[in-house]
Amino acid sequence: MTRGPVLSTVNTMADVWDAYRHELDGVEDRVNRNLDSSVALVNTVAAQILSGGGKRLRPLLLLLSARLCGYAAQEHHQLGSVVEFIHTATLLHDDVVDEADLRRGKRTARKVWGNQISILVGDYLYTQAMCRVIEFRSQEINEVLSEACKKMAEGEVLQLYYNGNPGLPEVDYIKIVEHKTAGLIAAACRMGAILAEASEAQQEALFRFGQYLGIAFQVADDTLDYTANGASLGKTIGQDLRQGKATLPLLHLLQQCSEQDRRMIKDRMETRTLSAEDLERILFLMNEYGSTAYAMDRAGTYIAAAKRELDLFEESPARRALTVTADYMITRDR
Ligand code: IPE
Ligand code: IPE
Ligand code: MG
Ligand code: MG
Repeated sequence: MTRGPVLSTVNTMADVWDAYRHELDGVEDRVNRNLDSSVALVNTVAAQILSGGGKRLRPLLLLLSARLCGYAAQEHHQLGSVVEFIHTATLLHDDVVDEADLRRGKRTARKVWGNQISILVGDYLYTQAMCRVIEFRSQEINEVLSEACKKMAEGEVLQLYYNGNPGLPEVDYIKIVEHKTAGLIAAACRMGAILAEASEAQQEALFRFGQYLGIAFQVADDTLDYTANGASLGKTIGQDLRQGKATLPLLHLLQQCSEQDRRMIKDRMETRTLSAEDLERILFLMNEYGSTAYAMDRAGTYIAAAKRELDLFEESPARRALTVTADYMITRDR
């Protein structure tokens, strides 16, 4: 029997967190035990970001996918911690690339210890994750995870290639998002299914589920970059435009707004300057032209497609929790 909550009790994301608390504690325990470098500074830097209040969505999706496919053992805690290490590594690298000052409401590692330490500890977390994952002795898991890591790097490079370019085609925007964010989320879902020795059809359905979820998640992240409350998001608002990054809400606005406003936006992207007044003006325009609504609507379409993938599975507490988590991907405020 798979352990899990009663169907009717899981209606909100808070219910999901509650119902799977003991599972996530198992992941947390592994995260802490895997922080065992003999170089104290590595542990200090990694612990600062790892204990910073991340949502642990990727391990959650992995363990829910495993339970959905009838997995009854506990190895998914370790695999969940591996995925969280990789996610954390990408954040340490991403904050250097994006010159970010805030992450999870605190000064980024690069602000506290410098870019070099941030990159190298990111490398440590990546490789520690690889050391732990090979212990599973599963060729399938190794392939899925390394493919996801490769895609993430490609996505970040493609994004840099388009930096400062307001003419980024929407299909390339989706390609960036699919590579840099959806790949790891899809891999997390598929690895849960692999652990459970699920059928190829189930593995593929969960992979696609994760991929749709991941695209929607990043589109929501890119919208929150404009609309969120900085304190709850724990990151600096307007950072994408300030870094010359054109994301879906901005691409929509650029197509809709007046020539004069377009010139203003292009100038801010090129000069990488953005005052509080500029941001206010852009937010106003995004509201006027429905740009944030457009982006969230697109995200909603991906979530609907993701949920259809779950039709392959019988009703169960894990399926219910995955549905609620799918909705949370685009209703979250942090
Ligand atoms: C942030 O991911 C990076 C993106 C892919 C947008 P999360 O929003 O899952 O970050 P934490 O782990 O909860 O801080
Ligand atoms: C996500 O993109 C980056 C990764 C997948 C590593 P963002 O650059 O938008 O993430 P945040 O906003 O810094 O968390
Ligand atoms: Mg970033
Ligand atoms: Mg972002």
